[in-house]
Parts: sequence; structure tokens; C-alpha cells
Amino acid sequence: MLHLKNIGILSTYNSATDSFNSLKNCSIDIEDKIVTNIGSSNNNGDFIIDCNQKLVTPGFVDAHTHPVFTNGREKEFTQRVSGKSYEEISLSGGGINSNIKGVRESNETELLDIVMGRMDEFLSLGTTTIEAKTGYGLDTESELKSLRVLDNIHNNHQIDIFPTFLGAHSIPDEFNGDADGYVDLICNEMIPAVSKQGIAKFCDVFCEVGYFDLLQSSKILKTAMKYNLTPRIHSDEFSNIGGTKLASEVQAVSADHLMEISDNDIDLLTNSDTIAILLPGTTFFLGKEKYAPARKLIDRGVHIAIASDFNPGSCHIKSMPFIIGLSCIYLGLSIEEALKAATWSGACALNEQDRIGSIEVGKQADLIIWDLDKIEQIPYNLTSAPIKNVIKAGEPLISLD
Ligand code: NIG
Ligand code: FE
Repeated sequence: MLHLKNIGILSTYNSATDSFNSLKNCSIDIEDKIVTNIGSSNNNGDFIIDCNQKLVTPGFVDAHTHPVFTNGREKEFTQRVSGKSYEEISLSGGGINSNIKGVRESNETELLDIVMGRMDEFLSLGTTTIEAKTGYGLDTESELKSLRVLDNIHNNHQIDIFPTFLGAHSIPDEFNGDADGYVDLICNEMIPAVSKQGIAKFCDVFCEVGYFDLLQSSKILKTAMKYNLTPRIHSDEFSNIGGTKLASEVQAVSADHLMEISDNDIDLLTNSDTIAILLPGTTFFLGKEKYAPARKLIDRGVHIAIASDFNPGSCHIKSMPFIIGLSCIYLGLSIEEALKAATWSGACALNEQDRIGSIEVGKQADLIIWDLDKIEQIPYNLTSAPIKNVIKAGEPLISLD
């Protein structure tokens, strides 16, 4: 048994009371990956970690990332700084398609090494569970290869990965001028092959001008559902072309980005179980001013989560502590709202809230021991993540001996 003693403050969402709580001076017992007791310190356990009166929170559940790529796109960052937009850069040979060659030409071991390194970093920043999309291979074999890489890391790395098939991320150059031909390939060949492979849990679509229009997005998500892939959608990132309406129609588990969401579409989310995943890192990294209307969404009863959107183009940020800081500054969230959105709601957006996303008896022991005294210091420290240890399924990241 692992015993965490001398916890100064335990801050977590609690599903029994539906509230975010902070418990002072307590301890946690962990047996076989599971939290078995939360109480006053009694110093029992085969292994004891002294938390030295510091803060403990759940590990982060980052429910939107794109980590399977090789080459960085720092050149685009420089172009944006000198005034070009994401859309202009994509149209002039950059963007998502400039990652395709790298993924197609890497063998599985090379790709695995690169993505594994990224997962080390995510975990050291306190992310214990991650949703990870494919979407830089964009042919059947490279998409299946990307999913095998994610599955291999899931099985051999402490971090838990929930893979999403995102063949509908962009139209690859060989289908230039024939988007419908690529949609046919996705629906008739890729989705059946992905389903047969059995790794992906979700199917996502970049529903956006210049990428996949509403009809194409609808066709892809409805085909995916027939193959038991749960739908999620990139919606209203640069323009509103009806993605959120589609999300509510297909009961997508999440609608993500939403910078351009309309009031009518907010009402649709209010009346659905679809979670709004907000990605303030992307708005920040692109140097844009218009953040998703988080307060309006919360005030109208929409369930929101926050995530990193880590990817090589629009948001090269892995740190959930930084995303929490951005959410407080630019989305107007309180620190409690931001922490709940980065843990419990992230778990809800993966349909895993019964197992992870909060520290409660009976749930998996995924947690962060901070070198901080209280949650307010997380956004205050913004770019540093003062973490002493991360416990994933009862296993400390930094070993005890
Ligand atoms: O979430 N929107 C689509 N996908 C990413 C961008 C990916 C890229 O630029 O490589 C996003 O912003
Ligand atoms: Fe994304």
C-alpha cells in the first residue's frame, strides 16, 4: 500500500457533492492503483510519501491533443509574427499538409520515439491522461501507423492515451480539387480499416472553410458511428459553418474550439450532453484576440472542459498549468472552475469520469503532488509547473528509492 501523508490541502472536484472541495491536513491510501481511503494521517503503508504540507490535486486530463507528427513548424510562427494569418500560411504551402511527408516517411519506431518523448513531457507537467488525435498521415496506412504508435505508448508508458482517428484533418495534396474523393476514401476505406484495427475510440473532423464542409463532416461522423467510433468535432474555430449544430445532432461527446460559436448554437449545447472543449492556448499562440465565450457558455449551463490542443502549427503548448492560467486570464474562469475543467470535465469528455478526473475513494490514483501551498499559485506561476511528483495509477513518476 502507498500512503501519502501530511497533505496540506487536497483540492479536487467531488462527484458526490457536485462541487470543488479543498480538504486540509489529510492523507491518502492507495492500493492496487485505487484510492482506498482519504482521511487523517496515520502513517501506515509499505511506501510512504511525505507531502510536507503541500498541495495535492488530480492529474490533468487533456482531452484534445495532436501529438503524432515529426517536423516542427516554427517557420510559420515567424511568418505569423510578421503579419501572416494561419489561413494564409496554410494556403501558401504550410499548415497541416506540411506535416504529411514526415509522418508518411517515418518508420514506426522513429515515430514512436518522437511521440514517446512528448509523452514524457506531458506527464512531467502533470498530465496523466490524454486524448490524442492522428491526422498528419492522411492515407490509410499512415493513419493506421499513427494509431499503432499511440497504442504502443499507451501500453508501455505511464500516461494513458485515448486515441482519436482524425483522417478528416485536411485534404492531402493528391486529392487537391477532389475533396469529395478524399471523403469517400475516409468513409469507404479508412473508417472500416480503423474500426477493424480496434485502437481508436473516437472519430473527429475539422469542420471548417477550406477543410471539411458541413455535408462532408456529417457524412464522415455518421459513417464513423456505424463503425462504433464515438464522434467529436473541431467546430467554429475560424468560422461558423454549422459544426456545433452537427455536434448536437449526432450527440458528439465534445465540440471543440468554439471561438466563433453563435448564441443559437450555445442554446443547442445547453440542451445536449456535448461538452464544449475550450482551447485558449490556440487563440493565444495564433495571436488572436477573440477567445471562446466561456462565461456565456457556463452561465447558460453548458459543461465546459479546457485542453491544450498541442499540435505543430496552431498551438505548440503542452502545459496544462499554463492553459489553466490562460483560462483564468482570457476566459474569465475562476481557479476552481479552471481546475475542474482541466480534470473532471476532461474525463467527462472521454466518457471516463467514473474512473479518473477526481480524487475520490474507489477511483484510480492519478494525482499531482505540488511544490505549492494552494491552487491559486498554479495560474500565478503561469509558465513554471512546480511539481514534486506525479502519481499515475498508484505509481510515482519519481521513484521513492
Ligand atoms: O486544432 N484545427 C485543426 N487542427 C489543429 C491545427 C493543426 C495544425 O495546424 O497542425 C487545431 O488548431
Ligand atoms: Fe485541434
